[in-house]
Amino acid sequence: MTNTPIDFSIVSQLIKDSGLSSVGRASIREIKKLIDNIEEATGEKFIRMEMGIPGLPPVKAGVDAQIKALQDGVAAIYPDIMGIKPLKQEISKFVKLFMNIDVSPNGCIPTVGSMQGGFAAFLACSRLHKERDTTLFIDPGFPVHKMQHRVLGLKFESFDVYNYRGEKLREKLESYFKSGKIHSVLYSNPNNPSWICFTDDELKIIGELATKYDIVIMEDLAYFGMDFRKDYSKPGEAPYQPSVANYTDNYILFISSSKVFSYAGERIGMMVISDNLYTSRYEDLKEFYPRDEFGYAMIFGTLYPLSSGTSHSAQYGLLGVLKASNSGEFNFVDYVKDYGVKAHEMKEIFLKYGFEIVYDTDIDQPIADGFYFTFSYPGLDAEQLLDKLVYYGISAISLLITGSERTEGIRACTSLVSHSQMPDLDARLKQFHEDYPIN
Ligand SMILES: Cc1ncc(COP(=O)(O)O)c(C=O)c1O
Repeated sequence: MTNTPIDFSIVSQLIKDSGLSSVGRASIREIKKLIDNIEEATGEKFIRMEMGIPGLPPVKAGVDAQIKALQDGVAAIYPDIMGIKPLKQEISKFVKLFMNIDVSPNGCIPTVGSMQGGFAAFLACSRLHKERDTTLFIDPGFPVHKMQHRVLGLKFESFDVYNYRGEKLREKLESYFKSGKIHSVLYSNPNNPSWICFTDDELKIIGELATKYDIVIMEDLAYFGMDFRKDYSKPGEAPYQPSVANYTDNYILFISSSKVFSYAGERIGMMVISDNLYTSRYEDLKEFYPRDEFGYAMIFGTLYPLSSGTSHSAQYGLLGVLKASNSGEFNFVDYVKDYGVKAHEMKEIFLKYGFEIVYDTDIDQPIADGFYFTFSYPGLDAEQLLDKLVYYGISAISLLITGSERTEGIRACTSLVSHSQMPDLDARLKQFHEDYPIN
């Protein structure tokens, strides 16, 4: 099989030069570097699906507001560590208008990307109860959260939710909660990498058990509003972005501005702590923090030593985006909808040539079209498939690094693939299918 769309000998040589034992086992950044090199050497453009980066310009209302703030001189001034007041108020308004939940501005805190919000929350949650030392991840998930646990020396457990959808989730979660070790749970919704979206019944199960066992639920909404099967874009009108916040008052939400507002470069996200959790007191926090109140410990004991707040101008940028969204002037869902259109087109092409969608339903509904989807090819495991696809000008990552048990699964990200590349994708997968016929 040496007559491949991308020159076989160049690809083989560059893989060898990269020192990688297999493409299928490489990290996202290693794959990116390899594909950059192959593109440069061959002059051929890949269907690049490995990295989850926005494929759109940043939201203008944010850029304009941020430039103005810089011109007004905010760069010289330390921002308040809990976030600037107008932004805290606008975040509170945003969650009211698009989630229909009430959170005081006190608990609405800008962070250096959602990434820092997670880091700070893991630190604080792991100190709530002396006898509880473990975070539970509902996987598949974002690998960096586990990396954060490793560098912090924190324990975690995880399970792949694939076989525990619907009512089955209750028993599975309870089996962990009963151990008495779990202080908090993290999942993303819509899910990176599988794009499954929990149903309201599932969120209710999670919420009820969180209240019963006094466990903090960390809901990562990095893809806020991006389940395009429903229109979550109208401020103050149902349907609202589904959330565990409707079923427990023991939650922290992480709302990244990276994908939904294409603002990844400014490293600003929102951490939203429920009023109940913010004011809750935990005796064991006193060992690490001056006070036992969760919100106080988070701001003055965790975010302060981490970065002393979040970039002042970026806070004004985010304020600009939120004001435009809250007023209805800017429809942030429409802005990113094309990811779903591309996912639909791409999935059709994959299915046409014998590929399968791995995480394919939300209980009884086909999975939504969005930022990511997962696929496999009969007879090949993820590593074998990725190793082969490179020669066909297609790059992606294996689900194995995400805590998935689907050893055949690959994650595809739609953001960097352009509509004009669909004919190439079709031709390359067609040839792949001919070269590797399904028995
Ligand atoms: C599920 C999930 N959580 C968090 C993040 C990180 O967000 P941020 O860029 O705001 O740090 C990402 C980014 O890819 C993500 O996919």
